[in-house]
Formats: sequence, structure tokens, C-alpha cells
Amino acid sequence: GKGAYDHFMLKEIDSQPESLRKTIQGRVDPEAGEVTLDALEEGDLEGVEQVHLVACGTSYHAAMFGSNLMNRRGIPATAHRANEYTDTIPVDGDTLTIAVTQSGETADTLTAIRRAEKKGAQTLAVTNVIGSTVAREVETPVYIRAGPEIGVAATKTFSSQAVTLSLLAEHFADDLPQGTPREDREEFLAALERLPEDIQRLLDTTEAERLSRHHLDKEAFFFIGHELNYSVALEGALKFKEITYEHAEGFPSGGLKHGPLALVTPETTIFTLLGSGPSTQTRSNAEEARARGANIVTVAPESVNVDDVADERLTIPDTHPDLTSLLANIQLQLVSYYTARQLERPIDKPRNLAKSVTVR
Ligand code: F6R
Repeated sequence: GKGAYDHFMLKEIDSQPESLRKTIQGRVDPEAGEVTLDALEEGDLEGVEQVHLVACGTSYHAAMFGSNLMNRRGIPATAHRANEYTDTIPVDGDTLTIAVTQSGETADTLTAIRRAEKKGAQTLAVTNVIGSTVAREVETPVYIRAGPEIGVAATKTFSSQAVTLSLLAEHFADDLPQGTPREDREEFLAALERLPEDIQRLLDTTEAERLSRHHLDKEAFFFIGHELNYSVALEGALKFKEITYEHAEGFPSGGLKHGPLALVTPETTIFTLLGSGPSTQTRSNAEEARARGANIVTVAPESVNVDDVADERLTIPDTHPDLTSLLANIQLQLVSYYTARQLERPIDKPRNLAKSVTVR
């Protein structure tokens, strides 16, 4: 049950330190710089020339995060929306196709992975449900171990998918001639182990709840970010539209000026995702929007100065640059939740949506 919570969604957001501990448990050894995934062995990527990740909705955003992280480790990976993974996409025996699906039952994702299998690709699934259709059909199921998710809006499973994909990225990097530089791998794995504590620190603050009250009368909510933060910008917008019913869109930071800027008015709030680095592209595009009256809410690590660009800010703990986006995502989950709550929306069961979409 929901216990002391009014909604499963908040319970599930709050459970992320615990669910991520389970995702990681026994799989990382920062001192040895090692990742162990039950189903996988060394040399799995031998003969693989390209990795395709296929998924829908929130799982697609996790797949985008995962492919970007793999690219950073030198792995040629691309994320595809399962519905667009048609026969026009070149797939052969040198392809590894990874289905990312919480339920393991999404019809569009199953169609995509079956198509890849038919063309001779190796197949793997990143899923939450043991014994699900996808787990039974692929060569290699890898479980995210997030526990059952009741809220229709996916929260804890996104985080566990992203972390599982980052473990896969580390595992595959071993098979590449150049690999991940060793010192960095140890730092990354150590940061991954600290992630549950960082999330707990974030959950213990009330920033997102307070901030949500200031934006209830806005006409549109945009979310912008670059690279890893782009996937979270899309996820932030999806979550926001699903449960608040307000107009929300995610854009790559640099894309704002190529059209969407025409929509920006003083009635627009723009959640601006900043990394620990200079984030020049995101800052300059946010400044452009601010000059047109937009309210800029930055989501940035504690140590980052946002005074020149932010009207308001949400803070996240400092961590490894590859994990900043996952903390930002949790602030955005909270913003969506508290906004929907103030607007008295039916948070756990939004209109027109089902937890698992088993039709094409
Ligand atoms: C959004 C959401 C959906 C699912 C999508 C895929 O909050 O839950 O967008 O992510 O329908 O579902 P799975 O991961 O079960 O394949």
C-alpha cells in the first residue's frame, strides 16, 4: 500500500535511495574498478559493431541517457523510439539491440526487438519484470531490480534503468581496445555507490515543493538541456505533461533558437538543466529566452554559480559529471508531483494513460 503517503508516485520517488541500492548491489566494485552483471560475460561485445537501444516513453529517455553514456565510453550506440525502429534501419549480425522496458510487455518495444532478432542481431533486455515477455524472448535479460511500480508515471524505474545502462556501458567498455581510462572508471563507480546518499540528501530538502507554488499560473513549461541533460529535459517535460495536464515541452538547449523561441513569453517557465562544467550552450540559450521575458529556473549542482541566468534555482548535490542529470531528474519528478498536487490532478492514474501499453 501507500502507507503514510497520499500517492504512490511520491512514495516511489522517495524510495529511490533504496531501489537504487538494490540496482547496484553486488554489481560494482570501485576499488577493483569492476562491474559484474549476472547475465553477462567478458567478450560479449566481440563482433558487435553497433549498439541500438529501443524503447518507448520514459524508457526511451533512459535509453537516450544510456546511449549517450556509451558514446562517452567510445561505444557506438544510438537510441531509437521503438515505433520508429522500422525495417529502414540497417540491422545485421554485427548489431546488438537492447530493449529498455520497465514492464517487458510494451507492444511497440516487443515488435522492435523481434524485428532485430529476425535480422540476426544479438538481443538483450533491460527490464524490471522477471518472467515478462521481453525477458523470455531475448538472449540476455538484465534486471533493474527497482521493485514493483504502481504509479502510472514512471519514476524510480527510470533511475534504475539509467543506472543499469551505465553498468552495461562500463561492462562493454572493457571489450573495446581503448576502454574507459581506469582512474575515471574508479571515480565513476565510487560516485555510483554514493548516488543513493546523494539522492537522500536531495529528498530531504523542500526546494521543489516551495518552488512549484510560484509557477501554477504559467501558460507553458519548457525543459532544456544538452547531451545527458537533454534526455532528462525530455523526461522532465513528459512527466510534467502526464500528471499536471499543463503544456510542457523538452528541447535540446541549442534548439530553442531554431523555432521554439517564438513561443516564449513572460508566461513561460523554463527549467534549465546545467552541468558541473561551463554549460555555455545551455546558459546562452537560457539568456536569450530570459531576454524575452521567460522565467528561468536552473537545476544545477550546488557548487555552480547561476546568478547571471537564474530567476530561481533548484539545487542538486555535486557528483560525477555523468550522474548529475539523474539528480536533476529527481528534482524535476518532485516539481511535477507538487505542481500536479496543487492543481488537484489524479496523480497516480492520469486520464487516457495506462501503466503498460500492450497494443500497437
Ligand atoms: C511515462 C511512462 C510511459 C512508459 C512507456 C514504456 O511515465 O510510464 O511513457 O515509460 O509506456 O513502458 P515500459 O517501460 O513498460 O516499456
